[in-house]
Amino acid sequence: MVKVSPSILSADFANMERDLQMLKDSGAEYIHIDIMDGHFVPNLSMGFPMVSASKRVSDLVCDVHLMIDTPIRYVERFCDAGADILTIHVEADTEENTKKALDMIRAKGVKPAICVKPKTPAEAVLPFIDQVDLILVMTVEPGFGGQSFMADMMPKLKKISEYIRERRPGCELEVDGGVNAETAKTCVENGANVLVAGSAYFKAADKTEFVNTVKSYG
Ligand code: DX5
Ligand code: ZN
Repeated sequence: MVKVSPSILSADFANMERDLQMLKDSGAEYIHIDIMDGHFVPNLSMGFPMVSASKRVSDLVCDVHLMIDTPIRYVERFCDAGADILTIHVEADTEENTKKALDMIRAKGVKPAICVKPKTPAEAVLPFIDQVDLILVMTVEPGFGGQSFMADMMPKLKKISEYIRERRPGCELEVDGGVNAETAKTCVENGANVLVAGSAYFKAADKTEFVNTVKSYG
């Protein structure tokens, strides 16, 4: 089943409760919350309060994407704030610390997930694959919404979907960056089952139609 995870980076921050209700009404399953620290990526976004506030007004799955250096410092606090899925980047720390951070997330009863940036090869997920419930493949350089989809990430997506089939069945495969009603199709064809959409979702005149179109590819 294909799921849609609208990124609230593109929401109206002055009307967040309204927009979160809109996510639910349109049939999305997840809320994608992008956390940026100005170091791992050249931008700042939001932090713990947005996770806890979203949790307070919505019962959708809280899909938190940490674009921060040394995430081990903060993973427990994001779990306590209400993350249901907590994603850390493989590039953000040593392999040892990344494994420890994933264990800490699991110990909190939250689903651990890893993410790879465009220049990071598919093989980089392998040391962690036994520990995770979701793998996120970036289809733009992380840091900003509204960038163009990198179709050249599709072979990597497919390779990771094969790793999942062989070694970690049931693990979800998510894509993030430049996903719209057209690019979603190629993502699903290459194995993705969770599609993050920021600008395409919030710009869509009919959000239910957008969600239904994306789901129809599954
Ligand atoms: C980018 C973020 C994305 C972003 C996607 O660093 O991780 O989640 O909000 O936005 P669009 O869908 O507009 O590319
Ligand atoms: Zn994201």
